[in-house]
Amino acid sequence: MPEGKIIERFLDDRRAAARISCPPTLVPAPGQYLLAHDPASDDPLAVPVFSAGLSADGFLAASPLPAAWIPGTSIHLRGPLGRGFALPAAARRVALAAWDVSSAYLLGMVTLALKQDAAISLICDEPPENLPADVEIRPLVALEETCQWADYLALAVTREGWRERVGNSDALNVPREAQVLIVTPMPCGGLAECGVCSVEVKKGMFLACEDGPVFGL
Ligand code: FES
Repeated sequence: MPEGKIIERFLDDRRAAARISCPPTLVPAPGQYLLAHDPASDDPLAVPVFSAGLSADGFLAASPLPAAWIPGTSIHLRGPLGRGFALPAAARRVALAAWDVSSAYLLGMVTLALKQDAAISLICDEPPENLPADVEIRPLVALEETCQWADYLALAVTREGWRERVGNSDALNVPREAQVLIVTPMPCGGLAECGVCSVEVKKGMFLACEDGPVFGL
């Protein structure tokens, strides 16, 4: 199995939890994931790892990651897996909203949006530092208002948050082009059809690992 290595851990994990080196073909696109497992660990379950942006030797990984993955740890990687975000080429006003997860899950979208000269608003209550000056930061209470402005929304939320607060809410008027990344455990990545990752979206029940974890809103 292809290997990656933890090169660096970050104290402030709002930007990223770690830098992982790996072959370029393994780097997940924003919203996609790798299933990662430490072969030296007793824990049999793999951990889904999402990109928070690129690095010269691999990528920055969004938090949380196991605390035992310290610099020098080798991990087995499988992927990239799942459906990621698809930023419309015509999008010029991009809203990135982290509901109850780290905004790091969305930071890979910043480079893509800047490449197409889009204005970017990052909506979250705990923003990372050192973002490009072009990224406007707004609190979560401004989500509704920012949705009126945006022509594309990428939202990241836990499965619990989706169920309790967002998925059942008709109050959120999202732009025509809107996607949600539902963050949930995905231990088998579809291999064993464990069903642990099942999520309910408007069209019914789906497996986040295979049908998502990014869904249309
Ligand atoms: S993680 Fe097992 S079916 Fe999705």
